[in-house]
Amino acid sequence: MFFNTHRVLVCALALATVSAGTLIAQDDLINRASFTAEGAVELPQDIRRWVYVGTPLTPNALNGGEAPFPEFHNVYVEPSAFDHWSATGTWADGSQIAKELVMIQTDEGTDPETGANAQVSGVGYFQGDFVGMELTVKDSTRYTDEPGNWAYFSFGHSGQPYAATAKAFETDSCNSCHEANAADDFVFTQFYPVLRAAKPTQ
Ligand code: HEC
Repeated sequence: MFFNTHRVLVCALALATVSAGTLIAQDDLINRASFTAEGAVELPQDIRRWVYVGTPLTPNALNGGEAPFPEFHNVYVEPSAFDHWSATGTWADGSQIAKELVMIQTDEGTDPETGANAQVSGVGYFQGDFVGMELTVKDSTRYTDEPGNWAYFSFGHSGQPYAATAKAFETDSCNSCHEANAADDFVFTQFYPVLRAAKPTQ
């Protein structure tokens, strides 16, 4: 009996220590982006192993034939930033979120009007080739002047290989639209079911 109680106590203490440590050190545990000496961000190597959170799609057929981003937008959150989001519902300093653009698949059967394909599961849109990669990084030390401290990058929009590094865009090119329209601290969580589900309820 004594031993069991003792063991429970030790476990409880260990857990309390771990969670207190986690709370204090949370920002320090974020895996940050790498930068060149000139201040360009380096293309993260393992984006497709980050946490996949959703795929908005704005096809040409529904945007007068000229959608600014007619491809699938596969969005991935760096895992430590995802853990912080799940624990707090906020974006930690150092958070990284990537968006990979993927062409809609076409073949000889593609409907010229809708751009859709008929496949065994039905008529619709299926992912084709990778065509572009973008990244946003929240960094209060590097981007003191950017609203929300978020900077935005593109590693190209014309297929692979992507550029190895990218310079931050001007605030008006990217940040302003995110600031005005995104649901959670410049991030469009309203379009990512995995982030909506992971957000803690207050
Ligand atoms: C007119 C508004 C607008 C502008 C300008 C804009 N974005 Fe976005 N961005 C969005 C929307 C809406 C989403 C989510 C839905 C989607 O991808 O279609 C998004 C999502 C993203 C994401 C995924 C993370 C997130 O915040 O949701 C990244 C990364 C991103 N954009 C990068 C950029 C970059 C780089 C630029 C500038 C070259 C840029 N954006 C300019 C509207 C905008």
